[in-house]
Amino acid sequence: MEVIAGRRSVRHFRPDPVPPEKVELLVQAANWAPSWRNLQGWRLFVLQGERKRELLAAVPETNRGRSGLEEAPLALVLVADPEQSGTREHKPYYLFDAGLAFAHLALAAWNEGLGTCCITWFQEEKVRSLLKLPAHLAVVALSPLGYPAETPAAPARRPWKEQVIFLDEGN
Ligand SMILES: Cc1cc2nc3c(=O)[nH]c(=O)nc-3n(C[C@H](O)[C@H](O)[C@H](O)COP(=O)(O)O)c2cc1C
Repeated sequence: MEVIAGRRSVRHFRPDPVPPEKVELLVQAANWAPSWRNLQGWRLFVLQGERKRELLAAVPETNRGRSGLEEAPLALVLVADPEQSGTREHKPYYLFDAGLAFAHLALAAWNEGLGTCCITWFQEEKVRSLLKLPAHLAVVALSPLGYPAETPAAPARRPWKEQVIFLDEGN
């Protein structure tokens, strides 16, 4: 619970590099996420240097998360293949499965003292052309990855009791 409740979306970072073995650990954490029929239709790009800077052109100046992509040493681009992830009764699973993978990654990152920020407001076509992605791949989310330079306050959550409905035989 300490990691789960303590994790924050981080938007300001120190420039310190992230050791490659930590990046590998985070990818392994994502790779253990559940997915529909274990199809794992997502892939993760890790960008740095000039490739990371090019990504900024796809993110609106007014997106609060943009500063994180500027400052952190690494940027993540989470993509998914809706065909590979599968669809059942008109319900595509690629966003759900990629989201679970990101959640695993973000929590493992926080546990290592690293920050992330899920960013989904960006120009998908610009990212697609930057990474030369084929048309069948969807760009699900971007994220900075690095050591936080801020301690963000926790945005309040609804009381958990309002989120749950317990049913038994009497109701
Ligand atoms: C699907 C999704 C999309 C998001 N898109 C953005 C975004 O484009 N820019 C941004 O700054 N934060 C974005 N966020 C981060 C949320 O604003 C953040 O998770 C929420 O305010 C709760 O804060 P916390 O993550 O620190 O607990 C996104 C989060 C999710 C789950």
